[in-house]
Amino acid sequence: MRAIVINSYMHPSDRTVSNDAPEPTLGKNNVLVEVESAALNFFDILQSQGKYQNQPPLPYVLGAELAGTISPHSPIPKGCKLKPGDRVFGYAQGAFAERAACDYRTLFPIPKGMTFDQAAGLYVTYPTSYEGIVNRGETKPGEWVLVHAGAGGVGLVAVQIAKALGAKVIATAGSPPKLEICKSIGGADEVLDYTKSSWQKEVLRITGGKGVDVVYDPVGLIKDSLKCIAWKGRAVVVGFAAGKIEQVPTNLILLKNVSLVGIHWGAYLKNEPGHVPDVWKGIFKLFESGKLIPAVYDPPYMGLDSVPRALVDLENRKTWGKAVVRVREMPERAKL
Ligand SMILES: NC(=O)c1ccc[n+]([C@@H]2O[C@H](COP(=O)([O-])OP(=O)(O)OC[C@H]3O[C@@H](n4cnc5c(N)ncnc54)[C@H](OP(=O)(O)O)[C@@H]3O)[C@@H](O)[C@H]2O)c1
Repeated sequence: MRAIVINSYMHPSDRTVSNDAPEPTLGKNNVLVEVESAALNFFDILQSQGKYQNQPPLPYVLGAELAGTISPHSPIPKGCKLKPGDRVFGYAQGAFAERAACDYRTLFPIPKGMTFDQAAGLYVTYPTSYEGIVNRGETKPGEWVLVHAGAGGVGLVAVQIAKALGAKVIATAGSPPKLEICKSIGGADEVLDYTKSSWQKEVLRITGGKGVDVVYDPVGLIKDSLKCIAWKGRAVVVGFAAGKIEQVPTNLILLKNVSLVGIHWGAYLKNEPGHVPDVWKGIFKLFESGKLIPAVYDPPYMGLDSVPRALVDLENRKTWGKAVVRVREMPERAKL
């Protein structure tokens, strides 16, 4: 089968597709998924170079988030309610391939009316932002929420979820087209360019001097955001997209009675497995209500050959929302 096979570490820009990758080996709880769309994550770039905290033994197939159908040839493990032909999305190491072995417990049926492209990027991003905004940030209707990198993968979902809860959202981004995405796709009430030094003053002006009730930060801007957070505000540490882990002076936390909390979604399955279904229930309810519609970077990347280019675009901050590769499409030149 065709797949992005990792035999040695290198930057993803130097990778090519293997046409004779071995078929996936199925373990005890695995089903075989015919992959239609695979979503990109920043950690794919790190994993390709051997720099990620979770490095499978060589050789392995790159990619972790996917959507597709259960193969007609798939075994169905005991306890698994899925059946061949079911449309599913979820998590599996080896998503950048025509087929992947997936633990059935990390798969969900694709919600009605959702495309493979939309479903491919749900598994990591949606519960992170839902848990971050709803439970860690304790966002309430009418409150002001500041979402940094509001056009990015987790950011755009956080904007949508905060709006769906009835909050007012200020979204930040680094360029005019991304600010427009925060408004047009996310539904943000206000947008601010955080490359301009005046953004905290603008936050205070917009909120009538009070500051925001919740800060959702996937970038590494907690310290700066504490200058425009409200009394008893909640600041949620999501990630460090800017590449630096911040040091926060604790007097800033004390002065405004702030709660500084983290969200590490990947650790919930181990530490709080009973809470995971509640989060998904909340997400599916928002999908059903039509208040949450997955946003996919447009145009989507066509074919596995486009994975290296797509990962470079992600690294260079070119993409917005969730970047997705249509695994089975062939690039135009290969069709000739
Ligand atoms: N805690 C968790 O459980 C969890 C789960 C998923 C992701 N994360 C983390 O959250 C962060 C964002 O993930 P994502 O999936 O939203 O990524 P993404 O789609 O690549 O978006 C990240 C955004 O950050 C902004 N950014 C600011 N400085 C940047 C820089 N120096 N390099 C790259 N981007 C920069 C960019 O927006 P502008 O161009 O507008 O500045 C970019 O669009 C990552 O650090 C990721 O590891 C954490």
